Amino acid sequence: MLTQRPRGTADLLPGEVEQWKRLEDIFRAVSRTYHYQEIRTPVFEHTELFARGVGETTDIVEKEMYTFEDRGNRSLTLRPEGTAGVVRAYVENKLYGLPDLAKLYYVGPMFRYEKPQKGRWRQFHQYGVEVLGSEAPEVDVEVIAFGAEFLTKLGLKDVQAEVNSVGCSECRPRHREAMVEKLRPVADRLCKDCQSRLDRNPLRIFDCKNESCQAILREVEAPTVLQCLCDACQSHFSAVTELLQEVGVRFVINDRLVRGLDYYTRTAWEFTVPGYSTVAGGGRYNGLVAQIGGPETPGVGFAGGIERALLVLQEQGAAVTERSPLTAYVAVADAQASQTATKLLQELRCAGISADRDYQGKGLKAQLKAADRVQAKYVLILGEEELKSGTVSVKDLATGEQVTVARNEIVSYLSDLQNSSGVVEHDQM
Ligand code: HAM
Repeated sequence: MLTQRPRGTADLLPGEVEQWKRLEDIFRAVSRTYHYQEIRTPVFEHTELFARGVGETTDIVEKEMYTFEDRGNRSLTLRPEGTAGVVRAYVENKLYGLPDLAKLYYVGPMFRYEKPQKGRWRQFHQYGVEVLGSEAPEVDVEVIAFGAEFLTKLGLKDVQAEVNSVGCSECRPRHREAMVEKLRPVADRLCKDCQSRLDRNPLRIFDCKNESCQAILREVEAPTVLQCLCDACQSHFSAVTELLQEVGVRFVINDRLVRGLDYYTRTAWEFTVPGYSTVAGGGRYNGLVAQIGGPETPGVGFAGGIERALLVLQEQGAAVTERSPLTAYVAVADAQASQTATKLLQELRCAGISADRDYQGKGLKAQLKAADRVQAKYVLILGEEELKSGTVSVKDLATGEQVTVARNEIVSYLSDLQNSSGVVEHDQM
């Protein structure tokens, strides 16, 4: 136990972390170009927020939440998703009082007690955006285009947006009635879950993984919400699909698409890659702000799983593994040189030059091998000779060339080399 991480969690080791950082950098860069600002909300919230916000009849709330009582007997829950917390923060901090739309993005860990499998974790990480304050279909399109552009920039191939409308409080009851009418007579042939969905949230039956339930839906010609949309939802959906075409986002209409959270109204979509579970998903949620006690405010957003995006990237052979090379490896060729090496190392690092040394008492040969392993550009050798003459031997590992540089000029010597080769150290960016 002590040496095992909890089921459904992962350690990110050096090597993998670089991939995550690359994804986050790209996500932040796209956020900048679309003019979104970062928001950070707590990792846990009052349980009630998710129960109300995400929906009492969802799998997330019914069986997947990490809920606990704190020492003050409050029921708290590790956030299973990001939208509810962002909306809570929007209301609590009265961001609706600001003159402009709230265009927000976030990146962080989420928690769901799911059965761990490929691409499905109990602690996973989402990148996501939320726009609060506009009903315009242009905003749905901006958010979908944001997602599409991010996934493309990341390097994912064959990504497609599947788009649907799940209607509003006017058309949904009509759809519900029509579903119940068609399915009630065959209810006993539905799976147990779908029998209860029929009473509580019939739309969910479209999401059932049982082929037999899907066959029944086809057999009774169960109506999709798209077929039941009210005029306002219909014209919103038409505007969204027209604009998507206009801006060149690849999409298909999937009238059976149902999302696993209850807050959606009108547009709902998922980004999929054939052969994989959903890479990202989102939609409009015009009732959520009011539902948790804020003023009537429309919203729209999406989120994707970092683990999933990286898994697909890797399996498509597009993962980028890069390690930033070290500029200088200080090799201690004489025991007396250790103190000078420590001082030199500090000067190099303060000047923004990445540098490292051996602390394990390795011989010179082993230190040169270590410099190779970390892909150092230069080895700075400090031996007896160098100590005596106040110099450093600088070996270029790519060319094998070696020059002698005065000890007090070494930092500016390496800085000049770095500038002329156009190498910018990561920590200076
Ligand atoms: P969601 O579809 O529940 O939506 O999750 C979004 C994405 O998170 C999924 O497409 C998937 O990539 C990833 N994900 C979900 N569960 C797991 C898991 N157990 N392991 C790994 N990855 C997972 C939401 O969470 C909404 N808040 C999205 C949204 C934002 N809608 C409007 N704004």
